[in-house]
Amino acid sequence: MTPGGSTGTVEANPLAAGLQDYRVVDPSLLVIFGGSGDLTRRKLLPAIYNLAAQHLLPPGFGVVGAAKDDLDDKSYRELAGKAIREFSRTQPVNENVLASLLDGFRWRTLTFDDSAGFAALDRQLDELDQERGTSGNRVYYCATPPATYPLIVRNLGTAQMTHSSGRGWRRILIEKPFGNDLKSARELNEMLSKVFREDQVFRIDHYLGKETVQNILAFRFANSIFEPVWNNQYVAAVQITVAEELGVEGRGGYYDRAGALRDIVQNHELQLLTLVAMEPPVSFDAGSVRDEKVKVLKAVSPLEGSEVDEGVVRGQYGPGWVLGEKVPGYRQEPSVDPKSTTETFVALRLAIDSWRWAGVPFYLRCGKRMPKRSTTIRMQFKRPPHLTFGRQAMRDAEPNAITLHIQPDEGITLRFAAKVPAAGIKMRSVNMDFMYLSSFLIEAPDAYERLIVDCMIGDPTLFTRSDEVETAWALVDPIEERWAQTQPDFPNYEAGTWGPLAADQLIQRDGFEWYNP
Ligand code: BG6
Repeated sequence: MTPGGSTGTVEANPLAAGLQDYRVVDPSLLVIFGGSGDLTRRKLLPAIYNLAAQHLLPPGFGVVGAAKDDLDDKSYRELAGKAIREFSRTQPVNENVLASLLDGFRWRTLTFDDSAGFAALDRQLDELDQERGTSGNRVYYCATPPATYPLIVRNLGTAQMTHSSGRGWRRILIEKPFGNDLKSARELNEMLSKVFREDQVFRIDHYLGKETVQNILAFRFANSIFEPVWNNQYVAAVQITVAEELGVEGRGGYYDRAGALRDIVQNHELQLLTLVAMEPPVSFDAGSVRDEKVKVLKAVSPLEGSEVDEGVVRGQYGPGWVLGEKVPGYRQEPSVDPKSTTETFVALRLAIDSWRWAGVPFYLRCGKRMPKRSTTIRMQFKRPPHLTFGRQAMRDAEPNAITLHIQPDEGITLRFAAKVPAAGIKMRSVNMDFMYLSSFLIEAPDAYERLIVDCMIGDPTLFTRSDEVETAWALVDPIEERWAQTQPDFPNYEAGTWGPLAADQLIQRDGFEWYNP
């Protein structure tokens, strides 16, 4: 039985009926460069297994893992099986589904600068195609350190693996970070465009695969009650927070060269900003959605020179306590320079120069070793134009707010004032909550499940286009340049806190407060 066959389990759940993906995926092979790496084991293989368990993989689907490790098909299947059992979001795994999935797994020992190795991989894929009836359809997934992307792309081109001689399609999935600055992102885009057409290139920002992130668009554009107030007439300020309790988790080497601005703001937070601020696209096709997103990024006024000192706060955590556990400071993390000036926290204020958003500050904040993992978008509304009940009655009422809880506890909260049940008139803020779990009784799939299927279908809506990535880097580069000119006084916040004092002051100066869940 193929993994797309009928041995899988989908939890019996009447509310989940009709929630299955109805789109048809062509029989295809997935080549994972970095097939034994951390991302593959923790995210990609468990996602593939869960797709199999939900019957969302095509018939004949197979995986070829490729990296320099000295493995063979058998040991790769063992490695993959172990990773899936450990990291799958559904537990326990269904051993029948797993066995049938692993049957289609192969290994290729490959160094990414070895062009002959790519030619051999191509032959192996052709044979697997014959065996599994996948008609030359292939996705190449770069789950490798970014420095290897150019090598892989070049060698795929040299070995003529980017276009099939028959009718099969070829696509490439590229993990973030897509470049390190505007210049390197442009070079990578140029290199890709020499061997792939843009419609074959799928740049991953895994936040776009999260259900709650996609729901931002549903919330705004599938309802008629929110959009009329979604503008500078009603909205006072917007806050986007990506807080993590985790530190750098063994990724010190990468993180110390990247920092929070490149790691989270350039991609995940700016993507959230585009979805919150974009104009309604004419339809939900990739071109229309991505055109509107790019317009938002182009309308953000870049912070340059001394504006960076005014509008951006950077921080780095020192030792502290997170969830009752003592944790080291950033400079004490493995593979981090003990004198590192890399930021693990950023807060900034952006302005969007558009008819809809002129005058509304957008505050973005992200940090490692915060007290709590929480990604939220909060729209804070203006006060009513006239205090009908008087100042005293409204003393305990906060401004109206809509909070989109992206993760965890996915949902939406509407905060408004209600009369306290007692004699006289006194208002207090109350919440109206929508929770995904209780409304749909189904756990949201992992972002990678959605993104892998979308790529196999050829739908690029939830992937970033070349101009989108470049425009985002153009906003980040001047901040990095300004920072490079001065020595920060790090560490400046304790692990387990909401970041440096300067971040509170940044928002308080404008008369707002951070929303700390
Ligand atoms: C990654 C960053 O892109 O996103 C990590 O490189 C970060 O540093 C992660 O921890 C957060 O993703 P999520 O899905 O856990 O919010």
